[in-house]
Amino acid sequence: MKLFTSTEFNSFQDLFVNQLEDLYDAEQRLTKALPKMAGAANSNQLRQAFHQHLTETQGHVSRLETTFRQLGIDPKRETCQAMKGLISEGEEVVDGTGDPSIKDAALIAAAQRVEHYEISGYGTARSFALRLGRKEAADLLQQTLDEEKTADQKLTQIAESSINVQAAAQTTATAGSRY
Ligand SMILES: [Fe+2]
Ligand SMILES: [Fe+2]
Repeated sequence: MKLFTSTEFNSFQDLFVNQLEDLYDAEQRLTKALPKMAGAANSNQLRQAFHQHLTETQGHVSRLETTFRQLGIDPKRETCQAMKGLISEGEEVVDGTGDPSIKDAALIAAAQRVEHYEISGYGTARSFALRLGRKEAADLLQQTLDEEKTADQKLTQIAESSINVQAAAQTTATAGSRY
């Protein structure tokens, strides 16, 4: 969404479309960022999770295009400043050096911020679609919302079952005297 220019809010339908355009931009940025996250992951499980979510993310782009078509409008991107920021934080991790397990923990931290942002965006768009009587759009948005939630849960599971354990052990081994 535009942050620094004046935008008029007169039509709920237009607001709905604006939300879709914001998500459309965010998802396309993610299709470029996720391969870099996967490439930077040390853990096979984490790399696979990023690859799987890349495939899902390509589907999210397609679903949004289907929704635009159903609404009779051309797909358009509205620059998502928030996603640009979240991705640039992720790229800082991708470019970072140091212990592989701690870097993996940092990748998960960045990726989960992205998922929560998407969960928020899709929840709102789904509710708008329902209120506007756009059942088909609401169903597609709900499908993506469910995949975002599952991706987030999977990252939590990977973090808590292995990555954070390894990262904490590494910290104790190398920097124990500092704490
Ligand atoms: Fe997505
Ligand atoms: Fe996602």
